[in-house]
Amino acid sequence: MANWNQSIRLENLEQILDQFEYQLKKQTSLEGLAELRREYLGKKSEINQALRGLGNASLEERKSYGQKINQIKDQMIRLAADREKELASQTTDWGRLDLSAPLGKSNQPKARLHPISNILLEITELAGKLGYRVTDGPEVETDWYNFTALNMDEDHPARDGWDTFYLDQYHEGKQMLARTHTSPVQIRYLENNQLPIKVLVPGKVYRNEDEDSTHLWNFYQLEGLVVDRGVSMADLRGAIQSILMELLDDQIETRLRPSFFPFTEPSVEIDVKYQGQWLELAGGGMVHPKILENQGIDPDIYQGFAFGFGLDRIAAVKYGVEDVRYFWRPDYRFLTQRFVR
Ligand code: DAH
Repeated sequence: MANWNQSIRLENLEQILDQFEYQLKKQTSLEGLAELRREYLGKKSEINQALRGLGNASLEERKSYGQKINQIKDQMIRLAADREKELASQTTDWGRLDLSAPLGKSNQPKARLHPISNILLEITELAGKLGYRVTDGPEVETDWYNFTALNMDEDHPARDGWDTFYLDQYHEGKQMLARTHTSPVQIRYLENNQLPIKVLVPGKVYRNEDEDSTHLWNFYQLEGLVVDRGVSMADLRGAIQSILMELLDDQIETRLRPSFFPFTEPSVEIDVKYQGQWLELAGGGMVHPKILENQGIDPDIYQGFAFGFGLDRIAAVKYGVEDVRYFWRPDYRFLTQRFVR
């Protein structure tokens, strides 16, 4: 096994770390946590296979890779221990109500994952398959990240379309706000990561908006950002197509229409044909060169594309829910349904 490092890539391990962290967050029982530990840190886990594989590497490789792999492993161990503490304290706080106890012969329906949680889990899975990392940013944002850094100066008219809720807190003289989109995470991610970049950002966003069957004041988005050499609109379309094929089905078609966003040039609306109907599901485009330049990236060498979906909309069409408001109403009859495609 002279080529051990070809089968085990460090970036795969970093993805595994991301996935592990995400799965831990979703996990609500100690049993489930033990299961995750076995899967991610057990004998047969990829991280331990990577460490075993090192035995066949050269001394130099062993040193540099070994240290990195061990760092990732240590981090995973720490994350699991932290989550365990958290879960353990929750169980004691709730006293005798043990939510993780099996229901036995009781005829109460079992708890189910909320349809949006389903989608969020599917996203981490498909991210692994398609080679994306998954990240998130704060829901309370600064004016800078939500607007200015995305090419919307203080008096930019596009700000009107993204009105939101403001806090009594200020950052650099500007009122802080509930983020209106996941796009600010593009900037945060660019600031803190090396090129090439390929990342998905699921997250909650807020709008000062009246609700109707397709609009909520609080909903989920899925942002995507890819920056590399020679990236084009064709890649954007391919990316959307493959993500929606995973989330919806293999038969979907996509269509791009010209649009405007301050942070992309050119910008498009992306429609998707699903079960015979064209639906408006996403916005996207090529990352504006100014945004790349602001991060010290030469737009003549590197290009990027980005997109943003409404996840509640996707959940609605996927599960045949005609009104997105159902997702956030505490209606037992709705929430105990089994959500399958
Ligand atoms: N942030 C936009 C919105 O909330 C969606 C969007 C459009 C995201 C274009 C993007 C993009 O990344 O390139 O309406």
